[in-house]
Amino acid sequence: MADQDRRNTETFTLTNNATGEEFELPVLEGSVGPKVIDVRRLYAETGYFTYDPGFTSTGSCESNITYIDGDEGILLYRGYPIADLAEYSDYTEICYLLLYGDLPNNEQKEKFDFDITYHTMLHEQLIQFYRGFRRDSHPMAIMCGVVGALSAFYHDSLDISDPWHRMVASYRTIAKIPTIAAQAYKYSIGQPFIYPRNDLSYAENFLYMMFSTPAEPYEISPILARAMDRTLILHADHEQNASTSTVRLAGSSGANPFACIAAGIASLWGPAHGGANEAVLNMLQEIGDKKNIPEFIKKAKDKDDPFRLMGFGHRVYKNFDPRARVMQESCHEVLGELGVTNEPLLELAIELERIALEDEYFVERKLYPNVDFYSGIIFRAMGIPVSMFTVLFAVARTVGWIAQWNEMVEDPNQKIGRPRQLYLGETERPYVALDKRG
Ligand code: CMC
Repeated sequence: MADQDRRNTETFTLTNNATGEEFELPVLEGSVGPKVIDVRRLYAETGYFTYDPGFTSTGSCESNITYIDGDEGILLYRGYPIADLAEYSDYTEICYLLLYGDLPNNEQKEKFDFDITYHTMLHEQLIQFYRGFRRDSHPMAIMCGVVGALSAFYHDSLDISDPWHRMVASYRTIAKIPTIAAQAYKYSIGQPFIYPRNDLSYAENFLYMMFSTPAEPYEISPILARAMDRTLILHADHEQNASTSTVRLAGSSGANPFACIAAGIASLWGPAHGGANEAVLNMLQEIGDKKNIPEFIKKAKDKDDPFRLMGFGHRVYKNFDPRARVMQESCHEVLGELGVTNEPLLELAIELERIALEDEYFVERKLYPNVDFYSGIIFRAMGIPVSMFTVLFAVARTVGWIAQWNEMVEDPNQKIGRPRQLYLGETERPYVALDKRG
């Protein structure tokens, strides 16, 4: 779309109080959501930058993929509400939707599933790569390394100016990521790697590669496969979050997609982002008992204490996280299927949620449970070790990263990402020779 088409009749006038100079800024309007003040010409025409650490008021790109209204608790993938997608769709359909913009018809779905399925195996030599890691490595560390290494193995899809290369690299990444993740897990527990099976769905295959062994047949529970599929759907994309922005920033220099996704995985690892699901479970274990909740709530409110209630709060959702609602339902289904009637950690989580939601500190700041508050409990019930929680998030988010990367590469307005700064360091000073320094 041309700039002119997005331009609103509104403008913003900036007045410099020192000089009296005025500068008019255009306002752009998307299909839905807040209007945007276009500051692109600001520096060239006024000599001033904007300052916005954490990008709390800054849009970095145009996008057609995902829309969030944090006040209303709305999350749409290509216009479809997340709750409907979680209820009626499946993960590969979501992958198609995010990549191509529309839901597939039968034929398109069949072909897409076939293409993804037939890219799930890894280059045999890549499998040797795992042996370079210590057995006790965190699986996210292995993920960063192995995904980054894909660019050393798949040279034939690295020309980002070629749409065919971009598509092959996209399919490969989406298809291989569960295999890479499952092998990272198998490596950490010393079990043989399990090769993917083409007769299984994406979620079934992932469970199969993680939990089966060559020694005995592994039966995949349809309820657990559905819960895994739903978890993948809920985490598939989330507009310009830290890891997605990292992928876009890395890609803005023309870096290859595998390297960009590895950068996204590294960014996701932090406890304020994808690492939160692991941190929630560690926190619940540390709290240990309902009677200790008030002490931890007190710590979370204490500004001198770095502790935060993990799984609470979100940069964008200031009402509720729509993903958390679906996740909470799924959590009860999974525990029911597994016959877990009194999971002490779930009871602890529910009590923690109740107490926090009644506390003035959390109410005032609109801090609600986010998606990660419940996902950890589901993963634990499924037998997934805590260190794999963020890996699961990375598997799910890979399609979002790759869809956003493709959108960026195809965007005619795309430029290398290069933020500016407010410099507070020393001004220019003369070099002092070593023997003259005090
Ligand atoms: N526990 C206690 N206080 C909190 C928390 C929390 N979890 N989250 C925010 N606050 C307070 C914060 O101290 C600040 O208080 P004040 O206004 O008095 O200084 C206020 O709430 C606003 O917080 P903020 O840090 O300005 O908010 P943010 O938008 O920068 O941070 C967040 C968002 C998700 C990083 C943060 O809420 C947090 O660290 N939550 C815990 C980690 C977590 O669960 N992350 C998963 C996010 S969902 C999955 C994903 O998309 O990655």
